[in-house]
Amino acid sequence: MDIWFDLKQDVAKQLGVDVLQIEEPDKEGFGDFAFPCFNIAKKKGVPPTEIAEALVRDLKIKNIKEIKVMGPYVNFYIDWKKVSSKILKAVNTKYGTSKEGKGKKIVIDFSSPNIAKPMGVGHLRSTIIGNSLYRIYKSLGYKCIADNHLGDWGTQFGKLITAYKMWGSEKQVKQDPIPELLKLYVRFHDEAITNEDLLEKAREEFKKLEDGNKENMKLWKWFKELSMKEFEKTYERLDIKFDIQNGESFYNKMIREVIEDAFKSNIVKRNPDGSIVISLKKYNMIDLLIQKSDGATLYATRDLATLKYRKKKYKFHKNIYVVGSEQKLHFKQFITAAELLGYEKAEKSIHVNFGLVSLPEGKMSTRKGRVVFLEDLINKAEELAEKLIEEKSPKLEKKKKIAHDVAIAAIIFNDLSTDRTKNIVFEWNRMLSFEGRSGPYVQYTHARASSILKKAKTKPTLKNVKNLETEVETEILKLLAKYPLIVKKSANDYKPHHLALYLFNLANKFNEFYQTTPVIKAENKSLKDARLKLVDSVKIVLNSGLYLLGIEAPEKM
Ligand code: ARG
Repeated sequence: MDIWFDLKQDVAKQLGVDVLQIEEPDKEGFGDFAFPCFNIAKKKGVPPTEIAEALVRDLKIKNIKEIKVMGPYVNFYIDWKKVSSKILKAVNTKYGTSKEGKGKKIVIDFSSPNIAKPMGVGHLRSTIIGNSLYRIYKSLGYKCIADNHLGDWGTQFGKLITAYKMWGSEKQVKQDPIPELLKLYVRFHDEAITNEDLLEKAREEFKKLEDGNKENMKLWKWFKELSMKEFEKTYERLDIKFDIQNGESFYNKMIREVIEDAFKSNIVKRNPDGSIVISLKKYNMIDLLIQKSDGATLYATRDLATLKYRKKKYKFHKNIYVVGSEQKLHFKQFITAAELLGYEKAEKSIHVNFGLVSLPEGKMSTRKGRVVFLEDLINKAEELAEKLIEEKSPKLEKKKKIAHDVAIAAIIFNDLSTDRTKNIVFEWNRMLSFEGRSGPYVQYTHARASSILKKAKTKPTLKNVKNLETEVETEILKLLAKYPLIVKKSANDYKPHHLALYLFNLANKFNEFYQTTPVIKAENKSLKDARLKLVDSVKIVLNSGLYLLGIEAPEKM
């Protein structure tokens, strides 16, 4: 149930206008809704203030306490006392969910790290944003397919196999897989600067791999297994699950088809060196290379094959890619190409891009080997969280588990509380702070609400909620009414930060309430009832909202 929308709809209906024309003033004192009279005024050739005056003369809208003309605007003030029980009745564990997505499938391509390399912080962002979108869309009734599109194919495997054959040791790789493989990869790049034969050799090894050479296949499989084991550890810590993890290699066998499709269309070009491109000049983009002169396939070709496969297999409503902004051109190119090849309309595929991460350690690059391992990052967060919990609540049960939840919350919330297109920074103190804009702060607020409810020992009831009337109580009601709207907005914009910021605001208001308003010690029983119900509702919404971000909400902290 979307109460906020219903209220807005009531206003629109009475005015006889479309609901989209009703605005929500963000400045205080201008009411909950506003209707600008400029358009009508222009049509009728009368000053807007006159229109506004005329409009309100006989207007009566249910659940609206006051209607005020303020210049060219009509402002509406909701009667919170009247709607309080409607709002609080709606808040249960299903609040904010909907069936809008019934029968529709959404593929979400996220995380997608590269085999034989450590999962980087860019992949961490993709994992966090993708997982949250997955949960949000699922809660809106969509059937979601979480696809970990692993980078497990491509010329880099020629390089790695070459390096392993020259300098690798099975024992060392077994002992410390990813760092060892990374070392080999880095060494390859270092030596290739002065030894050009290496690149030729790598090309040959990759060709052999593509042709199914046994030895190379075996090495590749082994590298993949080792990497997957490492990735799984991270996914487990973050509580992430995938529905499919085919990886790029799976689509390799469909490449022929893509090339054939391209030749059937009239957008393909063969260069003098034998390479094949899809011409995108008409779309003001550089051509898309789909096959190299030596016949090797590319990332983009595999993405075209993947899109074709997904369309056929899932008939997706939307196909979402959660990948960093640096790949914008790649996505624009192949998504346009996919439409030209007749696979699917470009608008159905969305590149949900995001900015960079800066760590205190500085920027990282795999080739140079200055890599921050995700494992270490999470370890560090846990270590700090454990210290914090030890200081704050030394007697807490299950301290380790809670420290883990707090650490993950810090990392996830730090990411999701910023618009994804912006860069984010890792600042441990701020991320882990129990005050201020952080995951642990929202968790802490949730635990605080839980503890009030536990102490109260009575079941919250709706009976006396008409007693809620202070300013802060009204602000909380208003926020609660907006929750479903925020979830939808986060989905529509593919931006969970709307939800993260909302939860932060709700937590703030709740803490203001907590500090100023006695609940268990309220003046009388009916006031206590009303406030307990409010506390209960805040707890439910914080819990549901945190879940949608991918964050646990412990009862005690
Ligand atoms: N493995 C790629 C990378 O690390 C990301 C893959 C994203 N998904 C896709 N369908 N291209 O850059």
